[in-house]
Amino acid sequence: MNAFEKLIGESAEFKSVLRSAEIVAATDVTVLIEGETGTGKELLAQAIHESSSRNNKPFVTINCAALPESLVESELFGHKKGSFTGAVSDHPGYIKQAEGGTVFLDEIGELPLSVQAKLLRFIEYGECQCVGDAIPHNIDVRLVAATNRNIAEQVKKGLFREDLYYRLKIVPLELPSLKKREKDILLIVNYFIASLAEQYGKAKPRFTSSALKQLQNYSWPGNVRELRNLCERLVVLLAGQEITETNLPVDIVSSDTSSSGFKLPLHGLNLEYLEMDLLKQALGVSGGNKSRAARLLGISRDAFLYRLKKYSI
Ligand SMILES: Nc1ncnc2c1ncn2[C@@H]1O[C@H](COP(=O)(O)OP(=O)(O)OP(=O)(O)O)[C@@H](O)[C@H]1O
Ligand SMILES: [Mg+2]
Repeated sequence: MNAFEKLIGESAEFKSVLRSAEIVAATDVTVLIEGETGTGKELLAQAIHESSSRNNKPFVTINCAALPESLVESELFGHKKGSFTGAVSDHPGYIKQAEGGTVFLDEIGELPLSVQAKLLRFIEYGECQCVGDAIPHNIDVRLVAATNRNIAEQVKKGLFREDLYYRLKIVPLELPSLKKREKDILLIVNYFIASLAEQYGKAKPRFTSSALKQLQNYSWPGNVRELRNLCERLVVLLAGQEITETNLPVDIVSSDTSSSGFKLPLHGLNLEYLEMDLLKQALGVSGGNKSRAARLLGISRDAFLYRLKKYSI
């Protein structure tokens, strides 16, 4: 099985990310995978490793957010015994442990600035400097990084090195959110229901068409992970049964887009005034960026510009 086949989805944007990933997997180029939580960044990183020539060497995951700031450097690059209080023995570091293979730096946006400089040096020259060791060592490792934060924003705020950002992002791989892959929702539901039913030895539950519609209308803030967890719960609790809207979590059902959730005040309102106010608020939130403001209101940039003109904003 091709490692990328584990990533389910047919939407054009998703397929195009997979195609680029397959191409970069055959090279040693450093990769930055961007995407919201649960969009499959780790799964994609593993697929890149498995389909690369390094697949018989280690794949080592480092969650940058889980490491205390004071230890990140020594955990990554290793340390010599006695190089700092608490360094009771030599530690090779995760990069060394992955020698010949791939290091997956998850949540790279959390990496302290001081360590970013050292990482850049490692990417540029392959040099790994162990804490407490004067001589750097060359280590052959492929780096794949991931983030669910907007690194470009962090660069602007001075929290992430611009040079490292561009060095990582040679081939941008941005996994789309599930909301942008509405057509993939049913495909993924079918996949998880079938594979989880087999895994648990249970009969597959069936969905009513209105239950399926609710799944398609929901915004899935937790993306594929949230959808998988729901499928797992339904397979376990409702094996072989029919799933109706009443079996779905209230969040999913109440997000039905046939109602916006907005309640019209009993005394009514001035629609034009409200529209004008929302346009201004969106501009404020987006810092004057019209494309972002338009996205906040769920309309195209052209439709947004038209309304600004209409109200002379
Ligand atoms: N396209 C997909 N096809 C099948 N399973 C997927 C897909 N995308 C994600 N998953 C599954 O969803 C879950 C979450 O995926 P993963 O851990 O790769 O997400 P992530 O982007 O790394 O999330 P986070 O930012 O929260 O760490 C996993 O169980 C993974 O197997
Ligand atoms: Mg992850």
